[in-house]
Amino acid sequence: MRDLDSQVPYWDAASATKTFTHPLHLPWLEGVDKHAAVLDYGCGYGRTLEDLGRRGHDRLAGVDTSPGMIERARVLLPGTQFAVLEAPPRVPWPDAGFDVVLLFAVLTCVPGDDAQRRLVAEVGRLLKPGGILYVSDLLLQGDERNRRRYDHCAGSFGGYGVFETSDGAVCRHHSREWLSTLLSAFESVADRTITVATMNGHESTGIQILVRKPGTA
Ligand SMILES: C[S@@+](CC[C@H](N)C(=O)[O-])C[C@H]1O[C@@H](n2cnc3c(N)ncnc32)[C@H](O)[C@@H]1O
Repeated sequence: MRDLDSQVPYWDAASATKTFTHPLHLPWLEGVDKHAAVLDYGCGYGRTLEDLGRRGHDRLAGVDTSPGMIERARVLLPGTQFAVLEAPPRVPWPDAGFDVVLLFAVLTCVPGDDAQRRLVAEVGRLLKPGGILYVSDLLLQGDERNRRRYDHCAGSFGGYGVFETSDGAVCRHHSREWLSTLLSAFESVADRTITVATMNGHESTGIQILVRKPGTA
């Protein structure tokens, strides 16, 4: 994966300071057994895993490309299995080991189409047949500030919607069509539009998508 599609120095620096806020929509997880194996891919400092642990989930794991994020997550959740991804998107764990994968605000950090495709394929490998993938990410925004920065960066890092934040991350906002193409190997279960504060404090429109890997466990 190109450096632009993991940006480890940026996320390591951010690990001490940033707060992430994409919400877990609990009704979507009501049917998930408390002993189901849950992987948070791009788990950051572990806040969603902490939330799930508080609700009684006891087979939790997290992976991230940033050693700084994983270090903070290990302090927050000492009993949880974590790994730093050395060769993303590859996760050094076997096929079909997870019932649920969370992918929260990770696609936004991966500007390239091909890198996103490979990441989603890796998540598919990790899921059991019938397992669920819960994606939360940011849509293309219609406001002037965002449109200006999409235009400013057009062609520099990738397609429309890729831009550089004021503090130096290259991020991506997505069309609904791209996300449904990206997830087309999965069966659609539900989606919802959300309003969420970005890591730099801007209110933005996001989308949450629940899909299922075809097959039965
Ligand atoms: C905006 S944060 C979200 C963290 C967490 N999912 C949450 O919602 O609290 C994005 C995370 O994705 C990680 N990341 C960036 N590129 C990645 C990649 N290619 N593979 C895995 N993780 C990545 C970053 O290190 C960072 O921890």
